[in-house]
Amino acid sequence: MYNIAIIGGDGIGNEVMESAEYLLDKLDLNFNFNYGEAGFECFNKNGTTLPEETIKIAKSSDATLFGASTSTPGQPSPIINLRKELDVYANLRPIRSYKGIKSVADNIDFIIVRENTEGLYSQKEYGNDNEVIAERVITRTASEKISEIAFKLAKRRKKLNKVTCVHKSNVLKKTDGVFKESFYKVAENYPEINTEDFYVDATAMYLITNPLNFDVIVSTNLFGDILSDESAGLVGGLGLAPSGNIGDENGLFEPVHGSAPDIAGKGIANPCSMILSTSMMLDYIGEKEISQQINKAVESVVCRGKILTPDLGGKAKTKEMTEAIVQEVISC
Ligand code: NAI
Ligand code: MG
Repeated sequence: MYNIAIIGGDGIGNEVMESAEYLLDKLDLNFNFNYGEAGFECFNKNGTTLPEETIKIAKSSDATLFGASTSTPGQPSPIINLRKELDVYANLRPIRSYKGIKSVADNIDFIIVRENTEGLYSQKEYGNDNEVIAERVITRTASEKISEIAFKLAKRRKKLNKVTCVHKSNVLKKTDGVFKESFYKVAENYPEINTEDFYVDATAMYLITNPLNFDVIVSTNLFGDILSDESAGLVGGLGLAPSGNIGDENGLFEPVHGSAPDIAGKGIANPCSMILSTSMMLDYIGEKEISQQINKAVESVVCRGKILTPDLGGKAKTKEMTEAIVQEVISC
């Protein structure tokens, strides 16, 4: 029996979470779902975007699934704080192309490893009417930890055997200086893995001009966030981009996308990002075989191109695409 925390959040976060629960219910495994609230609607109801109770549920579960939340003016981001509370310091964001889905190149397959606990997302901002300052916190401890994860992943993936460090140390000399130094220090323990480092602005271009160059990309919090949305755009959009937040004690899995107010309530959100995140969760709790089956099922449905949500050029509803994927999984 696995205890899974379920936090739908707002907008399409709740809609795609229904797809994840539907899929998990159909598997030959035992799950106990523990529901937690977070986000904008939660703030309107409880006066906080992330209640203590939700943190408790997530901490005491074997893994957490998070949908997406709408930002609340003047309030901290619940997902950033939840990542910190669970100390899930590594945000893993795999990017791959699918046959039949518009992509800047065939065979794109890389993963972004984003530092999750500090950087410009420290949420430490202050100042006066004229001047406002955001703290960009970078520590050697966190930078070495995230580099370690990136090298281990490159070793496990057996693709290009390479890690690319992305930073802006020509301008952010101290903070990104430490990030880059930490990267090369960890690299010494992995002589079999190739290394390179690029500035973030150049990387934004290389991702488009030469996406096949990348295997594992490691970066700080904000750069990792921006590059992962860009990367999703290379291969079919946010509806296909999953993520896993991993720490020593906890795992938190969520689509890369937000609550998408422009399509919320219409029942047309692409469930794949959430379903692939659920697959990453299953891999994390040790159900590797079923995780692989789910990835294959998503690939089959997406590549067949018959039942696709509008973001992928189809007319299907979230529920129809979910059902097609679930049928594919259970017929495996
Ligand atoms: P978004 O990711 O919600 O949407 C960006 C665009 O992608 C929209 O056009 C949307 O319709 C489309 N899109 C996203 N997911 C999709 C899916 N599954 N299927 C089909 N189309 C999809 O980002 P946006 O619009 O910048 O932010 C909306 C709200 O979400 C904001 O309040 C923002 O703060 C929040 N947000 C929350 C995140 C989280 O909870 N982890 C992450 C990003 C944004
Ligand atoms: Mg983002």
